[in-house]
Amino acid sequence: MKRDFLSLADLSAEKVWGLLNLAISLKKERQEKGSNRPLLAGRTLAMVFQKPSLRTRVSFQLAMMHLGGQALYLSPAEIKLGERESIPDVARVLSRYVDAIMARVYAHDDLLTLAKWAAVPVINGLSDYNHPCQGLADLLTIYEKLGRLQGVKLAYVGDGNNVLHSLIFGASKVGMHLVAATPAGYEPRPDVVKQARIFAQGTGALIEVIRDPHKAVRGADVIYTDTWTSMGQEAEAEERRRIFPPYQVNAKLVAEAKPEVGVMHCLPAHRGEEITDEVADGPHSWLFDQAENRLHAQKAILVDLFEG
Ligand code: CP
Ligand code: NVA
Repeated sequence: MKRDFLSLADLSAEKVWGLLNLAISLKKERQEKGSNRPLLAGRTLAMVFQKPSLRTRVSFQLAMMHLGGQALYLSPAEIKLGERESIPDVARVLSRYVDAIMARVYAHDDLLTLAKWAAVPVINGLSDYNHPCQGLADLLTIYEKLGRLQGVKLAYVGDGNNVLHSLIFGASKVGMHLVAATPAGYEPRPDVVKQARIFAQGTGALIEVIRDPHKAVRGADVIYTDTWTSMGQEAEAEERRRIFPPYQVNAKLVAEAKPEVGVMHCLPAHRGEEITDEVADGPHSWLFDQAENRLHAQKAILVDLFEG
């Protein structure tokens, strides 16, 4: 049966660790030898986008290139998923041409439809529900920086969105302590928290959702934030700008965490809103190592889907 990469919730803890170790070895190989072995020679990936992207688009394209394969970028204007053509038809047509599909969609259900009808693996390049490629790259970054994941305290400050959902699932699989501080009405989905707490029983993870960002960052090894207004929520931007300022990651908040705390953001950042320049460009920032790791983590995802 073909395998998809749609949510970190679908992966066993062993698989998450396997992907992290594979990412580390592929990163090392490229750094030491200047190139990767052509593990995906002759393979092709279609990249379907309903929304803009810098990191996901570039890192997937380069991951395929470095591994000897090819990627096709299909912009929002080209396919018009579900508008010009039905999703089942797009899935079946692309499956006749390429070996795998990566898709960035608005509605997660559209991704599930694509995966259902595609004969080839489908990778989630972000939906309104989650962002598993980001979540895996984030675990990789924390592991590289701290040398461990078990027991690491991550304070997520801001909107309970797609990125947080993948962090929650990721944390629950590797035994982290994740505390999310969100305004009322902007919590992560309760079903995500509930499911992650079940995974946590096997790994010693702790998943908490609270209100107070100051309490969340106390003793934190990592502070993580994301935009207050995700793609597709633009109509709410003004209201969100009124609600979220107490959740800004600024120097004062960072000073309340551990002295060596790392700061993460999946990017793109809205500087002066969820994060200040001082923090994004300061000594605690892991932002660009984190962005780089999208490339290495996705190489592992691709090699595993094709070869695993
Ligand atoms: N973090 C991330 O997914 O960035 P892009 O939207 O630029 O792909
Ligand atoms: N939460 C953001 C992440 C972008 C990578 C969004 O969905 O727009």
